[in-house]
Amino acid sequence: MDESDSLPVRIEPMAVSDLGDVLNIERVSFPSPWSARAYEYELRYNEMAHYFVARTNVPAASNGHKDWWDWLKQMFRPAPAPFHSQLVGYDGYWLMAGEAHISTIAVDPRFRGRAIGELLLAHTLEDASKRGSHVATLEVRVSNHSAQQLYLKYGFEKVGLRKAYYSDNNEDAFIMTTPQLGSGPYQMKLLRLKGALQMRLRETNGAPVMRTV
Ligand SMILES: CC(C)(COP(=O)(O)OP(=O)(O)OC[C@H]1O[C@@H](n2cnc3c(N)ncnc32)[C@H](O)[C@@H]1OP(=O)(O)O)[C@@H](O)C(=O)NCCC(=O)NCCS
Repeated sequence: MDESDSLPVRIEPMAVSDLGDVLNIERVSFPSPWSARAYEYELRYNEMAHYFVARTNVPAASNGHKDWWDWLKQMFRPAPAPFHSQLVGYDGYWLMAGEAHISTIAVDPRFRGRAIGELLLAHTLEDASKRGSHVATLEVRVSNHSAQQLYLKYGFEKVGLRKAYYSDNNEDAFIMTTPQLGSGPYQMKLLRLKGALQMRLRETNGAPVMRTV
């Protein structure tokens, strides 16, 4: 069993059936959200694309019991599972010419600050490295400090600026790039971060509760 199998948050490949949940997070995370069609294209046709989702267990909603018929049905039915698996974040990258270009990453606002974005990024860097990426790169809004902090934590450096990259407000983008993913020092860094990440995930997501905003 892989160590990650015992974590309270699981990473899985994104499927077309996930798109309803993905788009709900997309709409509250980005000023210019991608459409369902854009994601469908990525998943069905873009051979360079690799997308993942993060899931965790949350308490199942209770429907209540309204009348004697509901009580009767409940007596003969097994109790429903107390938890259900909820999609709480996603990310993706394109593998092009030995470079992983991270195209998106987002976490449900109700689940931010619980190491889920970090788990997605760490998993993606590991996946990209295994598939032969030498470096990972991305664009990030100059105003997006929380995302930049996450990337800096994972060794990304600001290597350039794309002027007016975002069409919704003409904001500039920093180009951020990792060192060589396969290098000894970077692999050591990933290993160290992974240990701390697993501990934090267990601490912050051990009890499957859902915060409301
Ligand atoms: C960026 C995002 C994915 C981070 O996800 P998250 O699950 O909340 O982040 P985590 O809890 O895993 O935090 C990991 C690291 O990110 C950074 N970080 C996350 N939230 C932060 C905040 N509010 N302020 C500063 N740094 C922050 C920190 O470096 C943190 O590590 P630390 O706790 O050791 O300091 C999330 O904020 C998000 O979905 N934002 C909207 C979409 C977006 O902007 N995507 C990036 C596009 S380039």
